[in-house]
Amino acid sequence: MRKNLIAGNWKMNMGPRETEAFFEGLGEQGLSEPKKTDCLICPPFVSLMSATARKVATPWVNVGSQNVHFENNGAYTGEISTEMLKEVGCTYVILGHSERREYFGETDEIINTKTKKVLADGLIPVTCVGEVLDERKADKHFDVVETQVRGSFAGLSDDEMKKTVIAYEPVWAIGTGETASPEQAQEMHEHIRNVLKSMFSDDLANAVQVLYGGSMNPGNAADLLAKPDVDGGLVGGASLKPDSFAELIRISEQS
Ligand code: PGA
Repeated sequence: MRKNLIAGNWKMNMGPRETEAFFEGLGEQGLSEPKKTDCLICPPFVSLMSATARKVATPWVNVGSQNVHFENNGAYTGEISTEMLKEVGCTYVILGHSERREYFGETDEIINTKTKKVLADGLIPVTCVGEVLDERKADKHFDVVETQVRGSFAGLSDDEMKKTVIAYEPVWAIGTGETASPEQAQEMHEHIRNVLKSMFSDDLANAVQVLYGGSMNPGNAADLLAKPDVDGGLVGGASLKPDSFAELIRISEQS
């Protein structure tokens, strides 16, 4: 049985002080350790240490970054390495978010290199795929996502793929308040699993967590998480407040 993962992607929000306040607030939500839900918060780099230091009341919340470089160290001004992330207590890394693809030129090839690096160094990648609105309107969304999945996970071993989390985020649903319907999410998640079956094996395709992302919130999460191939959410806006993040965890536990 796959567990759900409720993952908060804070993007360029929440400095160290706000991060401390968030974790204090989360500790006051009366949550006990979730049984069927992995939990993750991905703050900006400068807030990672505040997150790992202040999650005392909720030690089961994992902390991750939103990006990483694929080299160990060296002359890469402005970049961060996997070892640095591990040193501050990160266990996950979001890779290939559509905002990184759009504004920072990340390609499937770069995302593939980063995914392999993150796995090699013992971190868990949450690798993102998803089509833009024009691609959906042109009925190309299944092909686009298949190309992204094949490109992002090319050359991974079964063992590596098993440790990878995929987030399907239709770009038209991110930050827009417009969510994919549970049926649209389910059919794409099933498609992703079918692509994984052809690249790897049935067992592996059934073992990988596939998250939905794009305006998930406490109002729509139950219907999305009820779908058999939706294993959690990558959540932006609704992960910024302790009460709504806690509510998402509760909904996931009941799903
Ligand atoms: P959103 O962001 O929940 O604010 O739409 C999701 C994401 O971009 O990961």
